[in-house]
Amino acid sequence: MRRITILNPKGGSGKTTLATNLAAYYASRGLATVLMDFDPQGSSSRWLKSRPLTLAPIHGVTAYRNQPGMTRSFQLRLPPGTARVVVDTPAAIEPQRFDEYTREADAIVVPVLPSQIDIHACARCIEHLLTTARIKRREERIAVVANRVRPNTLVFRSLMRFLETLDIPIMATFRESQNYIRSFELGVGLHEMQAERSLPDVEQWAPLVAWLESRGRTQEAGAEEAVV
Ligand SMILES: Nc1ncnc2c1ncn2[C@@H]1O[C@H](COP(=O)(O)OP(=O)(O)OP(=O)(O)O)[C@@H](O)[C@H]1O
Ligand SMILES: [Mg+2]
Repeated sequence: MRRITILNPKGGSGKTTLATNLAAYYASRGLATVLMDFDPQGSSSRWLKSRPLTLAPIHGVTAYRNQPGMTRSFQLRLPPGTARVVVDTPAAIEPQRFDEYTREADAIVVPVLPSQIDIHACARCIEHLLTTARIKRREERIAVVANRVRPNTLVFRSLMRFLETLDIPIMATFRESQNYIRSFELGVGLHEMQAERSLPDVEQWAPLVAWLESRGRTQEAGAEEAVV
């Protein structure tokens, strides 16, 4: 099982967009997938509710709402056989609480928009992941995704220059695309849309999904060896 947390306290950076598309990607590949929504806005949960029943199912956990009469661990339990867990986090979480979301994550993906405000917020987020949440660079668990980019703009070049100084890999750049808005409305993922429409966006996901698949493999290999 692998757990991927999408985190950036800056509102509107693309957390829910990444979380829903990633969950749909895994489900469409036949992996038993859980989408955990920690955001009281409930955007991921709403997307999941509108998901057509004809598509591969995704198990939703509305983690932001305490269910009466249920312990927290029971509420957050995973169905047996879960292969991938995608965690959508809210805006404005305090750095002291990052650890609640990152502790068990095999990978932490930080989406960032090309604007000066977002660049500063991303710098703070990475700094807190490394200090307050005590994630070591050598664990290679953190990656950045530049979202809603318009290449050849000054602010995009400034974002890329800044990301290079952080020494955290930029795993993908996603262009500004109506396909994200459309797929969200339809309760589907990009990878489930008509290929001729979504191909340029789908191609941009390839390096990210490849990197995510390489995370957590060591622990899994170790666990398998232990079983043998
Ligand atoms: N690459 C993109 N192209 C076009 N629109 C996008 C893209 N990424 C995100 N959006 C749109 O930007 C808005 C904000 O994105 P999203 O809801 O994913 O951000 P968020 O980080 O989850 O926000 P919040 O912090 O409020 O939870 C949404 O309307 C979404 O459809
Ligand atoms: Mg969101």
